[in-house]
Amino acid sequence: PKLEYLLLETRGRVGLVTLHRPKALNALCNGLFVELNQVLKELDDNKDIGAIVLTGSERAFAAGADIKEMKDRNFIENYLEDFLGHWTQITKIRKPIIAAVNGFALGGGCELAMMCDIIYAGDKALFGQPEIKLGTIPGAGGTQRLIKAVGKSKAMEMCLTGSVNLTAEEAERAGLVSKVLPADVVVDEAVKTAEKIANLSQPVVQMVKDAINQSFEIPLSAGLTFERRLFHSTFATKDQKEGMAAFAEKRKANFTHN
Ligand code: HXC
Repeated sequence: PKLEYLLLETRGRVGLVTLHRPKALNALCNGLFVELNQVLKELDDNKDIGAIVLTGSERAFAAGADIKEMKDRNFIENYLEDFLGHWTQITKIRKPIIAAVNGFALGGGCELAMMCDIIYAGDKALFGQPEIKLGTIPGAGGTQRLIKAVGKSKAMEMCLTGSVNLTAEEAERAGLVSKVLPADVVVDEAVKTAEKIANLSQPVVQMVKDAINQSFEIPLSAGLTFERRLFHSTFATKDQKEGMAAFAEKRKANFTHN
């Protein structure tokens, strides 16, 4: 089926998904999110894909949830339909997702980037949670994931004022993004990193993602046990045998993803 709001291409073992609603700065309307969930699920199920890059345009990663679409909604509808509940499906994707962010990542756009596993930012990227200026609050992790990425004071300042945005450099210094790059290379660099990850052992890559994500959910002692059990289980893979044999034999490992 034809995609209305996204562009999809594959580069080697990487799925590249581009938010493409240029007239509205990639505002995240319901239709866009339905397509995004569907495309990400297909990439997750595709054995030839090892990692995913999610990007927008040079002007905007995404300027937030679609304000015009949501402005007349009421509480009962929101509650009964669990409005925006389907946004969390992206966090169920097992393969690593790198967000390549240029321009505005505001509101739901910032939250979408934070639902990804790694964020690379173009030098003109801007991260913010302006919801309070619209009389509402972040609804997809802005008050929860942001604090873990930038600490309480910055998260409070951003969410309480709605007008303090982080530049790419500030976001990198705070730990929200791992790399700042010239705007025109950020997608290619994200794809390069994704390709690197995609050529490592797929099951082991997914164990790393699982283990790191557990650290947000469970106490340290349980997290350490979870990590150690996964570590143990890597020894049931051919890729662990291959990886360690290759080291001992001074050659490059050839992982077969099993
Ligand atoms: C709907 C949007 C939009 C949005 C931009 N547009 N953001 N439409 N929802 N979030 C539309 C504009 O209405 C305009 O359409 C076109 O995109 C271009 O935007 P401009 O405002 O003309 O561009 P510019 O002057 O460059 O300003 C860029 C901007 C501004 C600073 C990013 O657009 C802006 O403030 N946008 C809203 C940002 C925001 O508040 N985001 C949070 C949303 S709430 P027309 O038709 O006029 O050309 C949210 C809640 C999440 O995300 C809750 C849980 C997920």
